[in-house]
Amino acid sequence: MVETIQWTNEGVVMIDQTKLPHVVTYVTCRDYKEVAEAIRSMVIRGAPAIGVAASMGVAIGFAHFDGGDFRAHLDTVCETLARTRPTAVNLFWAIDRMKKLAIGMEGRPLAEVQAALVAEAQRVYEEDIAINRQIGAHGGPLVPDGKHVLTHCNAGALATAGYGTALGVIRAAVEAGKKIAVFADETRPFLQGARLTAWELQQDGIETTLITDNMAGHFLKAGKIGCVVVGADRIARNGDVANKIGTYSVAVLAKENGVPFYVAAPISTLDLTLASGDLIPIEERAGAEVTHLFGVHVAPEGIGVANPAFDVTPNRYVTGIITEKGVARAPYEVSLAGLAGE
Ligand code: MRU
Repeated sequence: MVETIQWTNEGVVMIDQTKLPHVVTYVTCRDYKEVAEAIRSMVIRGAPAIGVAASMGVAIGFAHFDGGDFRAHLDTVCETLARTRPTAVNLFWAIDRMKKLAIGMEGRPLAEVQAALVAEAQRVYEEDIAINRQIGAHGGPLVPDGKHVLTHCNAGALATAGYGTALGVIRAAVEAGKKIAVFADETRPFLQGARLTAWELQQDGIETTLITDNMAGHFLKAGKIGCVVVGADRIARNGDVANKIGTYSVAVLAKENGVPFYVAAPISTLDLTLASGDLIPIEERAGAEVTHLFGVHVAPEGIGVANPAFDVTPNRYVTGIITEKGVARAPYEVSLAGLAGE
């Protein structure tokens, strides 16, 4: 399985996801500003992976701190990391976790704080892999044998510390001996499906058919798809799910065709402070991602462009939310609060 991100003595090393699948190269971030830039520029992306990167970003932000105003430095590091991308709540979850630890150790010898932050970031990383395995254990049995699974965007090892959420469910089903194959939506405009999911599954030898996003309805109607499994960037208290733009269309088409639509995500993707998905901030990205394909302008000069990176799927389209603690089903207000222990 690919190594998405690692803490090393040189710095935070990440596979450069903007260059995949043709070039496999690694970026080393030597301070927190470089980690923030890697998140902003999508060298690393996917909600749980962004969370792991942010926790390592806080750790490296203190590795080079040589004294001075502890609180001011902590705020600067955390705010710089928090300003990178607005939708995936795992980013803020990870920053909060690291911040609480640092504040709790204020006044202790700096070397102790630095070591504790590195250890905590490594725990975030290791826990994420274990959580994904548990998501797989809960989700694998839901995948119908002998059919295709449709997925959108990349919710795999590349989007996490390893194994993946949605792709973790698929991996677990395959490991259990099920005969399944995957339809991967290409996921315009950033092509996470074509560039990342297709590559990742190919590495694993899982049979994968790449389709353009507008083909999903055709294959859902044809009865070839046993279920849809996607990841999530933020899930509101009522079970509304923010995920990569285009997820909502897939969910509606799945329901129309009687195909179960599952969301696989860790508890850290829940945002129980938000009553509904309408309150989730949606990142707007550069118009050039829509007007250009690999640097080639494919639209008329001067055309207006919209580029929301995520959409919100209302809870009524979601068959189940697969977490490390179990599978939540409607009514989500009750089931999600129960799984989150609130
Ligand atoms: O813009 P991205 O590539 O960060 O968007 C990623 C997604 O939408 C994923 O589906 C989501 O983060 C879940 S990753 C396990």
